[in-house]
Amino acid sequence: MTAGKSRFHGLRVSAVDRLTDDSVALTFAVPPELRAEYRYAPGQHLAIRRRASGAEGAEGAAAGATPAGAAGGGEIRRTYSVCSPVLGADGPAEVRVGVRLVEGGEFSTYANKEIAVGDLLDVMTPAGRFTLEPRPGHFAAIVGGSGITPVLSIVSTLLARQPEARFCLIRSDRTAASTMFLEEVADLKDRYPQRFQLVTVLSREEQQAGLPSGRLDEERLSGLLPALLPVGEIDGWFLCGPLGLVQGAERALRGLGVRRARIHEEIFYVDAAPAAPAPASAPTHSTVTAQLDGRSGSWPVREGESLLETVLRNRPDAPYACKGGVCGTCRAFLVDGEVRMDRNYALEPEETEAGYVLACQSHPATERVELDFDR
Ligand code: FES
Repeated sequence: MTAGKSRFHGLRVSAVDRLTDDSVALTFAVPPELRAEYRYAPGQHLAIRRRASGAEGAEGAAAGATPAGAAGGGEIRRTYSVCSPVLGADGPAEVRVGVRLVEGGEFSTYANKEIAVGDLLDVMTPAGRFTLEPRPGHFAAIVGGSGITPVLSIVSTLLARQPEARFCLIRSDRTAASTMFLEEVADLKDRYPQRFQLVTVLSREEQQAGLPSGRLDEERLSGLLPALLPVGEIDGWFLCGPLGLVQGAERALRGLGVRRARIHEEIFYVDAAPAAPAPASAPTHSTVTAQLDGRSGSWPVREGESLLETVLRNRPDAPYACKGGVCGTCRAFLVDGEVRMDRNYALEPEETEAGYVLACQSHPATERVELDFDR
């Protein structure tokens, strides 16, 4: 599914399951007429929108939402990975996501403390390219904290649907009590003892003799990985979690000779970074033309704003979720002109080489820029 085809629909919460003291799993029921639209690949994510009380079209806002939790702009959006397996080719009757409480996080606080069964939320159709379609092979993941969420969908789908596949999951968390989806992962171990290998590393807790503890950083992984599995024979590596863990794991894998094309990454947290100042060569006046849902328009770009912000002022239906260069929802094809991106933690090198950019991170580097959100 391309970002351009992403749409919000109101979905009803059918279950709220507490996973740990600071995380919940939310299940949304998908009505039969929307199931085809919510068909997802294992590893994809959903953006969830919370509108301010009284905002236009508040149909999709959760019942019982308090205005204090919504951002001043009228809504907040967050993306959460689907954790449930893909069971068949038909669209799902429900989708389940995991939400960890982030300190000071408006949406995660709302999700952990207020959302109840029966609430109606705006949920975007699935997106994301951190996916693995089941195929034979030996795969591995290195995840930190809530980074387990998409990988749980990937591994449970793979092992259920592909008898010729094996998976090694290396996960790190602070303590056993703070580990999300502990039972679901233990079930996989019981069900597939020959094909599923699990290594848990706890940073703030002593474990039984022989099990590693401490932080999973580059140095640690460089020593640990060759002792655990045949690094050079792994068909795909899935790295997911905070920026530091993912970057450290990538450096360790590259140092062990793994090709970049075999490494897939999804970052969950990135500290807000100030936008880079515009270079002296940046044009003083620029116009962006954007194609979105088959309609196109051209608008002047205001000083300092991203191309997404320009488009959103004129087309509020433009796709986005994080606005931080992490989720990839705002991906667009650069048809004409040049842009300067502040940062990119979402697009793979092949995508940028093919001409895709993140609109939320892009600033014009030429007087005319043309984007296509539909490609
Ligand atoms: S909105 Fe998430 S990367 Fe642009």
